[in-house]
Amino acid sequence: MPDSLNLKTVTFSLDGKYVTVPEGTTIWEAANAKGTLIPHLCHKPSTGYRADGNCRACMVEIEGERVLAASCIRDVTDGMVVIPQPSGPKNPAPSSPNCWPLISLMSAMTNPLISPR
Ligand code: FES
Repeated sequence: MPDSLNLKTVTFSLDGKYVTVPEGTTIWEAANAKGTLIPHLCHKPSTGYRADGNCRACMVEIEGERVLAASCIRDVTDGMVVIPQPSGPKNPAPSSPNCWPLISLMSAMTNPLISPR
């Protein structure tokens, strides 16, 4: 989240609740601040780490968008409607809810920090 005091804010819907955050906040940062769990593997909320959107473990559904979005690299916009755990038949594989644990497992298996070879 940006550090400036004179920030513009944006209001969006997260899992059915309206949330206001500073402009430039990612979906993952906003969810994390509000206690909504979104899995993450290639991103760490610490100083010096940059989200690159590589592992796709943090995918969320955004109402009106055709494909899922990586929440760690997607900034919140005013009026955005975010559904943290994608569901429903309109989501194409491999982003369907049943594939989510598999994507996370595959990402963990290929992460040298988690799974030594
Ligand atoms: S945490 Fe890896 S793509 Fe977002």
